[in-house]
Amino acid sequence: MKDISSLRALPHYPVMLEQVLEVCQPEKGGLFVDCTFGSGGYSNAILSFPKTKVIALDRDSNTQQYVSKMKKKYKDRFIFHNSKFSELDRVINKNTKIDSIIFDLGLSSLQISNLKRGFSFNSKGKPDMRMGLNSISAQEVLNNLGLETLRDILRFFGEEKEAFRIASNIVKQRDKKPIASIPDLVNIVRRSKKRDFKKKINISTQTFQAIRIFVNKEIFELIEGLINATKLLKEGGKIIVITFHSIEDKIVKFFFTNFSRNKSRGSRYYPDTDQKKILFENYKNKIIRPNSYEIENNNPSRSAKLRFVTRGKDNFFYPIDFKNKFFHYLELENRHV
Ligand SMILES: C[S@@+](CC[C@H](N)C(=O)[O-])C[C@H]1O[C@@H](n2cnc3c(N)ncnc32)[C@H](O)[C@@H]1O
Repeated sequence: MKDISSLRALPHYPVMLEQVLEVCQPEKGGLFVDCTFGSGGYSNAILSFPKTKVIALDRDSNTQQYVSKMKKKYKDRFIFHNSKFSELDRVINKNTKIDSIIFDLGLSSLQISNLKRGFSFNSKGKPDMRMGLNSISAQEVLNNLGLETLRDILRFFGEEKEAFRIASNIVKQRDKKPIASIPDLVNIVRRSKKRDFKKKINISTQTFQAIRIFVNKEIFELIEGLINATKLLKEGGKIIVITFHSIEDKIVKFFFTNFSRNKSRGSRYYPDTDQKKILFENYKNKIIRPNSYEIENNNPSRSAKLRFVTRGKDNFFYPIDFKNKFFHYLELENRHV
């Protein structure tokens, strides 16, 4: 295996890099898609192997500084699109056959540490939370959405038990004065929630996660991204996904398990496989986690889970059951401000 230790010096150390490379095997060459370029950790590592090409996407135009460096270094072996991965099938020609497609979900350290963007509890600025190419900001969400929708967002996207109290305090507060800063939001959450000293996470974590998912339409992005990736993969190609919270993982697990030849039978009386429903081969429902060294040295990796799947030979079909299964999330993300 190549020495990739220099990549540890990047602003965002790519989570489970060694494991990603082990699955996608760039040493064999091929065409790879990095759907979440960030500061380019995976793209860089893949391109350090000869006979590889990378098409990278990121919705955040602030990635441009890293894109320029990569273009200089790798020339036409590297192509970048400032696009959302839900648009994969529009930015990549449908006849392109891809070896591996990688999704490293969530935020980069670059985004979290830029306090102007409002992703961090420590931010003093506006509640923005837009990753890029958005139609609304967190500020618009907090000041305009109805009480019930706010409650549902916190309950379903944040799995927040005290969703109703937080949502009603948001509405009470904004009736006096619009919510204009991250400290305004953090104070509302603090006032609304009972302290649970056993919980290790910040009291605002679930609220921030929920609003961020809504602002960036992350459920729609993930579902469309996975479907489009499946369309573009060649037989034997891999989809690799790294998730950071249970909603993302639930979605990925359902897709991989339900459209795989090895899906477990609900009952032994059901037929073993339904030929029409096979997109992937030999999915073992295996989760790969970072090792203790990585968790110690890169704290955000502690909640990461890697799953991957291998495309089978059957023709692509639109997996409508996938969307149906998560319809309640998609409907919620579509509610208007
Ligand atoms: C965890 S970071 C990826 C870090 C990257 N692997 C690296 O090594 O630097 C996630 C990145 O994905 C981008 N992103 C998130 N959702 C996206 C989407 N739907 N489409 C395109 N990019 C997205 C974010 O803007 C962010 O830069």
